[in-house]
Amino acid sequence: MAKPETSFMDTIVSLCKRRGFVFPASEIYGGIANTYDYGPLGVELLRRVRDAWWNATVTEREDVVGLDSAIIQNPQTWITSGHVGGFSDPMVDCKKCKGRFRADKLDSASCPERPSKKPGECGGELTAPRAFNLMFKTTIGPMEDSGAIAYLRPETAQGIFLNFKNVLESSRLKPPFGIAQIGKSFRNEITPGNFVFRTREFEQAEMEFFVPPAEEQQWYDYWKKARFDWYVGLGVDPAKLRMREHEKEELAHYSTATADIEYEYPFGWGELEGIACRTDFDLKRHSEASGKDLVYFDPETKEHYTPYVIEPAGGVNRIALTLLIDAYEEQQLENDTRVVLHFHPKVAPITAAVFPLVKKEGMPEKAHEIEGMLRRARFSTYYDEKAAIGRRYRRQDEIGTPYCITVDGDTLREDFVTVRHRDSMEQERVAVKDLVGHLYAANESWKRPAR
Ligand code: GAP
Repeated sequence: MAKPETSFMDTIVSLCKRRGFVFPASEIYGGIANTYDYGPLGVELLRRVRDAWWNATVTEREDVVGLDSAIIQNPQTWITSGHVGGFSDPMVDCKKCKGRFRADKLDSASCPERPSKKPGECGGELTAPRAFNLMFKTTIGPMEDSGAIAYLRPETAQGIFLNFKNVLESSRLKPPFGIAQIGKSFRNEITPGNFVFRTREFEQAEMEFFVPPAEEQQWYDYWKKARFDWYVGLGVDPAKLRMREHEKEELAHYSTATADIEYEYPFGWGELEGIACRTDFDLKRHSEASGKDLVYFDPETKEHYTPYVIEPAGGVNRIALTLLIDAYEEQQLENDTRVVLHFHPKVAPITAAVFPLVKKEGMPEKAHEIEGMLRRARFSTYYDEKAAIGRRYRRQDEIGTPYCITVDGDTLREDFVTVRHRDSMEQERVAVKDLVGHLYAANESWKRPAR
C-alpha cells in the first residue's frame, strides 16, 4: 500500500538527519523555525548541484560569464527594483494562537496549536490580510537610525543588473550573452514548512541572459528547453516534471512571459525553477534611478538599445531536495527492504566506498591504497571496514554511493577488485590498474534505473 504523503516527507527528513545531509539549525537551543544546517553529506550534495549548474551554465558555454556580487548593496537598489515597495505577501494573523499565514495559501496551512486543523479552526478569529514585506532589514554602522538601513538581498538577480556595464566592458561580450551567479538570498518567508523547500535563507542559481529585443521569444524557448533538459539529464523522473506557463494575471508587471519548471513533490506540484522574460525593465529602471547609461551600443549596426532579459532562476537547496526525493526508493528484496538513493553519479556525495573484505591479511592496507588512488583521481571516497559486507553495502545504498569496491584475497594475489553497482546490485571483477577509467566510463553511461 502506498505510504501517506506526509509520511514520505518524514522519511526523507529523518534520513537526512540520520545520515548527515540536513540538520535543524540551532538544534541544541531548541531550533529556529524553517532554518537548517547542512551536514557532511549535505554540503557535498549542494556542492555538486552548484558544480553541475555552473558547468552547464558557464563553463561549457562561450556566451555566459560568472559574477559574485555583494549580499548587501546600496539600499537604493531595492527601491529601484520594486522590492521595498512591492515585495510582500498578504498575511493574516490568528488572534488566538498568534499563528501568521499567507492569505493566498490558507488551504495548505495548518494551525500551529492544532496541526491537524486549518488556520482559525483553533477557535481564533483571523485578521484581514495585511501586506508583509519579505525583505530582511539590517543597519550599517553603529547608529540604528533610518539612514543606516540596508537590506539582505532577496534575489541574486539585481547584483547582476548593477554590474551589467562592468561585465560588458571588461569581458567584451555582446548580446546575446549571460551573467550567472550562485549565492545566498534572504526572504522573511512565512513558510508552510515542507523542510528545505522554502526557507528564509537559501541559495539561488540565477542567470540573466541579455538579448536583442527582437530575439526575446527565441531565447525564452531556448532556455525553457535547456533548463528542463538539464533536470532530466541529472536523472530526475521526467514524468514528475512539467513546464507550466504563467497565466496573464499571474505575470509580474514587468514580465511578458514566465514559465515554472514544476516537480511533483510529496506535498503536490511546486516550483523548482522559474524562467522569466524580464524585458528591459530592470536595466531601464536602474539607469533612470542612477543616471548611468545602461544601454548597449552595437558597433556593427551602430544601434543603441537596452537589451531584453531572459532569466532562468533556480534554488540550489530546492534542487538538492528534489534530487533527494526523486532518488529515494524502498525496494522489497527477498529477505529485507533496501533503501536506496539513485543519485546520478555526478551529484552523489560519495562516488566510491572502499571496503576490505576482512580486517586482516593486509586487506585494510590495500584498501587504503586503492582509496588513495581514487582520491587522487578526484573521486570522493569513503573507507569502511566495520560490520558485515552486506551491511556496508546497505549503508552506502542509503546515501546513494554508486560504487562499492571490495578488496579481497584475489586483490592481494591478482590485483583485481570487486565493483558492486548500487542500482543493479551487480558485481564485476575489475583490474586495479583499470579501476579509475572503469568508474569514469560507468559515470558517463549512467542511466536512471526503471522503477
Ligand atoms: N530573480 C527571480 C527570482 O528570484 P523566484 O521564483 O522568486 O525568482 C527563484 O526564485 C528560485 O529560487 C525558485 O524557483 C526557488 O527554486 C528558489 N527559491 C525562492 N524562494 C525560496 C525560498 N524561500 N526557499 C528556497 N528556495 C527558494
